[in-house]
Amino acid sequence: ATADEPVSFAAVIADDGRVEPRDEMPEGYRRTLVRQIAQHAHSEIIGMQPEGNWISRAPSLRRKAILMAKVQDEAGHGLYLYAAAETLGADRADLLDQLHSGRQKYSSIFNYPTLTWADVGAIGWLVDGAAIVNQVPLCRCSYGPYARAMVRVCKEESFHQRQGFEILHTLSHGTAEQKAMAQDAVDRYWWPSLMMFGPPDDDSPNSAQSMAWGIKRFSNDDLRQRFVDMTVPQAEALGLTLPDPEIRWNEERGHYDFGDIDFTELFEVIKGNGPCNAQRLAHRVKAHDDGAWVREAASAYAAKQSARSEG
Ligand code: ACO
Repeated sequence: ATADEPVSFAAVIADDGRVEPRDEMPEGYRRTLVRQIAQHAHSEIIGMQPEGNWISRAPSLRRKAILMAKVQDEAGHGLYLYAAAETLGADRADLLDQLHSGRQKYSSIFNYPTLTWADVGAIGWLVDGAAIVNQVPLCRCSYGPYARAMVRVCKEESFHQRQGFEILHTLSHGTAEQKAMAQDAVDRYWWPSLMMFGPPDDDSPNSAQSMAWGIKRFSNDDLRQRFVDMTVPQAEALGLTLPDPEIRWNEERGHYDFGDIDFTELFEVIKGNGPCNAQRLAHRVKAHDDGAWVREAASAYAAKQSARSEG
């Protein structure tokens, strides 16, 4: 094809190329990306709440500064992702409206409470660890703006994962009470972290098409296995136990075996029946309403600036 002869969508996908905002694309591809990117963006900003809960109670000034920076990173990821969705013609206000009215989803994991300081460590280590495993392949997503956003997001997530590991390492090598607190956090966050990867492959309605389009590069179950394989040795290094007696190395498969996941719990949480769904959404809606004056002031200022530059 020459410069004025657009390469067809099918050819770009077949060639493992990148689709850019102005390229032609099937409506289903556009819709799937808006769905996934919006859910991803919503997860980032709802994900600020469980950890935000501990900013005022972090055990030292250093821990507090690190946690504040981390929660701000999540806000940044959300903004980045909303901008990526906008390149597909989505309207940010409309996406937020769909989140607030429960028509669009966000990750199940953020509907669990953060009961102790150790939960901040478990979220960094397990939740951000799972996010990295899921998102590194998205750096090769066929849609250019999403793929490029993921590069920076993954670098920051690696720092988050590391700080979570370090919190748990400190607690695990502290007093008996601190170690017990770390173990309790891991016990509560382990199974929900495995659920982050989504339903099993044979119960994942979107996977086949998303993989054919190069949006997803690996299946939900493949990524979940990769996460288990990565995490088991890290748990050993921490001196903590994963709450699954069936975890053992399988020489034949070259992977760790693990126990059955209770997917009814995942589906219940997705439906809105998790421990904190109502609280998370109510808090988000209130923050949005409280911020209305900022959005209005910013729009009025922008309108004034553009009227001035035209005049
Ligand atoms: N929490 C909430 N909803 C979920 C979850 C979950 N853990 N897993 C799957 N779902 C939803 C899917 O969004 C889909 O719903 P929809 O069709 O109404 O949109 C439905 O369950 C069926 O699942 P799949 O067919 O497997 O959906 P999909 O192909 O989109 O795969 C996945 C789900 C793996 C989460 C994918 O969307 C993805 O990789 N998203 C990008 C990463 C992301 O959003 N991460 C957020 C958490 S990490 C963080 O923010 C720190």
